[in-house]
This record gives sequence, C-alpha cells and structure tokens, in this order.
Amino acid sequence: MMIDWTDYIDKTNGYNPSQLLMRMEYMLQSLDGLHVLDCGCGAGNDLAFLIQKGAMVSGFDASRYAIDICGKRLSHQANHIIRLEHASFEDFDYHRYDVVVCNSSLYFCKEVSFEQVWRKITHSIVLGGLFCGTLLGNEDGWNNFEFDTTSFKKPEVFTLFSDFEILLFEERNKDGFSSNGQAKHWHSFHVIAKKIK
Ligand SMILES: C[S@@+](CC[C@H](N)C(=O)[O-])C[C@H]1O[C@@H](n2cnc3c(N)ncnc32)[C@H](O)[C@@H]1O
Repeated sequence: MMIDWTDYIDKTNGYNPSQLLMRMEYMLQSLDGLHVLDCGCGAGNDLAFLIQKGAMVSGFDASRYAIDICGKRLSHQANHIIRLEHASFEDFDYHRYDVVVCNSSLYFCKEVSFEQVWRKITHSIVLGGLFCGTLLGNEDGWNNFEFDTTSFKKPEVFTLFSDFEILLFEERNKDGFSSNGQAKHWHSFHVIAKKIK
C-alpha cells in the first residue's frame, strides 16, 4: 500500500533538521562545498540545514508534493541545488556524493528492491565519504502494517556496513507516538558511517 505523505510534509515543513544530521555536521566540522544527497527529503528540513552550512545538495522524494514544497522553500538558494527530483529509491539515477543522508526514509523502500537500492547508495558514496541515516528495526510497529517497509535485526545492520567504519551507532527501541498522535512501537538504528572500501 502506498502512503499519502501530504499531511506529514505539511506538518513537518519548517521543523528543525534531524538530530543525526546535526551530529554529523558537528563531527565533520564543515560541510562547505561538499555534495550531499538527501534520499526521501520530505519537506526539505535537512536540505535547508545543509545549504545553510554551505553544502551543495541533491535530493529526491517519491512524493511530488514534497518536491514542490522543497522547490518553493529553497528557490532563493537555487545556486546550492544540483538536482531536486520526484523519484523513488528504486528509480533515482544516483551519481557520486560526499555524503548520503537517509533520514526516516529508507524504511519505506520495498523489501524486494532493498538489496539493489543499497548497492546503488553505497556505490554512490565516494571513498572516505559518509552515510548518515536511519534503518527500521524488526520490532517496529510499522512492520505489522499493510504498507511496504524493509526492516533489520541488529546483526544485519552491521553486515550492511561491511565496507564502512561505523562512527556512530544507536538503537532506539521503545513505545511512543507517531506524528499523527497514534500509539506506536519505535525500533530504529541510527548510523553515521565512513566508506573505507
Ligand atoms: C518519514 S518521512 C521523512 C522525511 C525527511 N527525510 C525527514 O526527515 O523529515 C519519509 C519520506 O520518505 C519518502 N518516501 C517514501 N517512500 C519512498 C521511496 N520509495 N522512495 C523515495 N522516497 C520515499 C516519503 O515521501 C517521505 O517524504
């Protein structure tokens, strides 16, 4: 089942960037001039932060509405945008990036396509570049819903990063609420990792 992200995009438009991204920026000290790809960029909060920090950005999202919102809110910084496209993980034409960001978005890549998508993402990161993103845990409540998700057990996450040095790894596994206020069990892995092979 496809999710309609319109309400989520409206609700989160103008929110702070993700904590993970801010931590990555702190680690790197400078994003100036780096090319960063934001996969599933939503309302563009992470893109706005990246641009503010001097990065050149590309972004895509499977929601056309999200891309329209990003295009409007970032139009005055067009000189920092390399590509902004309506595309899915599966069909985006990946180039090469210093950093790839996937914040709460890879969760929704179809399981059947994940392996190929992951190969494309990891190949697109330059040697010494970073992955900064979240992966869905196998105990997350969304695994029981009808929409497509791909989730992992902890050892599987480490296998995904065999060509990386993991700089930050956090597992979150707790009850909470979804963005529309419904009770939900959250299980996710938060990873910042440097490509070494
Ligand atoms: C929970 S939101 C996160 C948005 C943003 N990264 C953030 O942190 O605010 C998930 C985003 O992933 C996008 N998405 C879902 N499935 C996708 C797919 N197969 N390919 C690309 N984007 C997808 C949705 O349109 C939505 O904008």
